[in-house]
Amino acid sequence: MKVRKAVIPAAGLGTRFLPATKAMPKEMLPIVDKPTIQFIVEEAKKSGIEDILIVTGKNKRSIEDHFDANPELEQDLQEKHKDKLLKLTQSITDLGVNLYYTRQPHPAGLGDAIYRAKSFVGDEPFVVMLGDDLMNDKEPLTKQLIDRYNKTHASTIAVMRVPHEEVSKYGVIDPSGEIESGLYNVQSFVEKPAVDEAPSDLAIIGRYLLTPEIFDILATQKPGRGGEIQLTDAIDTMNKTQRVFAHEFKGERHDVGNKEGYLETAIEYGLTHPETKDALRQYIIDLGTKLSRQNKNKKN
Ligand code: G1P
Repeated sequence: MKVRKAVIPAAGLGTRFLPATKAMPKEMLPIVDKPTIQFIVEEAKKSGIEDILIVTGKNKRSIEDHFDANPELEQDLQEKHKDKLLKLTQSITDLGVNLYYTRQPHPAGLGDAIYRAKSFVGDEPFVVMLGDDLMNDKEPLTKQLIDRYNKTHASTIAVMRVPHEEVSKYGVIDPSGEIESGLYNVQSFVEKPAVDEAPSDLAIIGRYLLTPEIFDILATQKPGRGGEIQLTDAIDTMNKTQRVFAHEFKGERHDVGNKEGYLETAIEYGLTHPETKDALRQYIIDLGTKLSRQNKNKKN
């Protein structure tokens, strides 16, 4: 069956970005001039996804507004002959995917958020795309997962090697053999293990291709780490009755879910954005000179 649907959980409170996220969704924080969630929707579109459900919560209405038309703004841009900006504004509404929204009333974990998508997904395979991870590769990671699924018809979870001391921030897999380049059988999936107990350095990153049986498991899933319903735990249970593979991502991942990663990503994108790249590059070179001078003075 063709993979046509994606679920983007966007109900989190965004506490890592307070006070910015007190009244504004973290998914609307821009990388240069584009909200992070738009990168995710664009990746879905590029991967052939047709329908997207965004699971939102309180204070998230601006996500819906962002993907909706804004007639007043468009009229103003038209009257002022700002054609480029008009086109840019309209292109967000005409992305060519159908967007649906539902709310998660209480933040009860990623597994609970995904369970809200049960009737939207129905009896089809689907992808889950987390908004904190922006991925760069020749081929979008979501498309890579779909290509794997088209051959195996099995759930496939994206993983990536991370530095060992960071494994406790992620779901981690215990691989039981690489069956072909970058595709692993998995013994178990563990949510945020202690560093000395982690079965490997292969961490789950924010893209999952799941078969709909995951909903039967989520329906009775008990809270796990942090007292929350964990998607990783449900995947581990599913792996006992049907094969779940792990696909190793070898491209570039930007974690925009923490302050440092967010700033680094903004700089990287700023260095490729046509309006900012030259001035920003020069600024960084000058700043580097200034900082290394300060460093030398400190040492002397
Ligand atoms: C979630 C998942 C975790 C995964 C991570 C990837 O954790 O629970 O398994 O490794 O996303 O970004 P969170 O970062 O939401 O705490």
